[in-house]
Amino acid sequence: MKRTLMGTLAVVLAGSLGLAACVSTPMGGGGPPMPVASLRGSDTAAPDQAPVVRDQLGKKPGLQDKIARTFVGQPPMIPHATDNFDEVSLADNQCLECHGPANYVKKSAPKISDSHMTSATGRKLADADMRRYACQLCHAPQFDAKPLVDNAFVGVLPKK
Ligand code: HEC
Ligand code: HEC
Repeated sequence: MKRTLMGTLAVVLAGSLGLAACVSTPMGGGGPPMPVASLRGSDTAAPDQAPVVRDQLGKKPGLQDKIARTFVGQPPMIPHATDNFDEVSLADNQCLECHGPANYVKKSAPKISDSHMTSATGRKLADADMRRYACQLCHAPQFDAKPLVDNAFVGVLPKK
């Protein structure tokens, strides 16, 4: 009994010594450290640069075409500018002042879809469900900005 315990302790001790050895030996055997680069390109020690402020591509609502969707179930992109609207708050949601069921006709705006007026339990609601209240969690305005990372995305549209 005593013997096995000592044996186990020896194995554990050997294991932790091995681990300590791994941690203290840098990979590559002590060569110069690899330079660290971030996507934003700044020296990690330099103060962070404020992001460039870019103009939105869209103008006042009512002046542009809808942006084609690229896959089924995509939240449509916002074609108009949004930077002159107030922030969405508990008391105020300018998006709904045009897109909500009470105003969309007089504002000539596309109405939020029925999915937005359905509760989590499937009940039909008279206005947007709270899960859909923060529109820009899903709908994005458009900027003239180069993608940070190149990509080869092509949409998948339903077969006709
Ligand atoms: C003054 C009225 C008005 C306000 C406020 C407004 N919109 Fe719009 N929205 C429109 C109109 C009109 C269109 C149709 C395209 C156009 O003419 O710009 C539109 C189009 C859209 C579309 C595209 C729908 C589709 O089927 O392609 C989305 C998404 C959208 N708006 C989201 C928003 C969000 C989110 C907000 C709040 C940040 C907002 N809108 C505020 C009037 C408005
Ligand atoms: C959780 C994500 C989500 C949120 C939040 C959300 N939407 Fe949407 N929206 C979608 C998706 C996905 C679609 C397309 C599928 C559909 O119609 O349900 C859509 C469709 C739309 C459309 C096009 C309707 C049509 O008939 O083609 C409008 C307009 C719109 N949303 C406006 C809004 C506004 C305004 C808000 C905020 C009050 C909002 N959405 C919040 C995901 C979202």
